Amino acid sequence: MLRQDSAVKIAVEKHGKERKHLLPVLQEVKRAKNYLSRSDISDVAAEMGLSSAHVYGVASFYHFLDLEERGRNIIWVCKTISCYMKGANDILLALEEALKIRLGETTSDGKFTLLQTNCIGWCHKGPAMLINDQPYTDLTPEKVVEIIHEYNQ
Ligand code: FES
Repeated sequence: MLRQDSAVKIAVEKHGKERKHLLPVLQEVKRAKNYLSRSDISDVAAEMGLSSAHVYGVASFYHFLDLEERGRNIIWVCKTISCYMKGANDILLALEEALKIRLGETTSDGKFTLLQTNCIGWCHKGPAMLINDQPYTDLTPEKVVEIIHEYNQ
């Protein structure tokens, strides 16, 4: 992981200081650090000449820009109606059991955080989830256990 001040500086240098570049800057810092801390918000604001309140407002609007420390792999199980009707709750239960955590928690080794999200655009192949940016579809409880196993190798 990059130190926070260098991650912010690198992101701002790469994308620019104009207000319109705020979202890519925040995405870049989040990628480097896995989440956005309070000091990241202040550092981005200072680097870009924006108020911390504005930067926080943008960061908190997009739930993919985590404002809490998360595991190295973030699992987003779709909770929207199509996936719900196709058994998303069974997927969630299988993940909770396999990872030995509840929704919203992070495994003790810091490897996984289990979260829910709204529709990720794979409704026709639900239930669906993302692990980081990778979509997984047509899920079954057995299939998610295999997927988690692959990440544990
Ligand atoms: S409803 Fe789950 S991907 Fe759209």
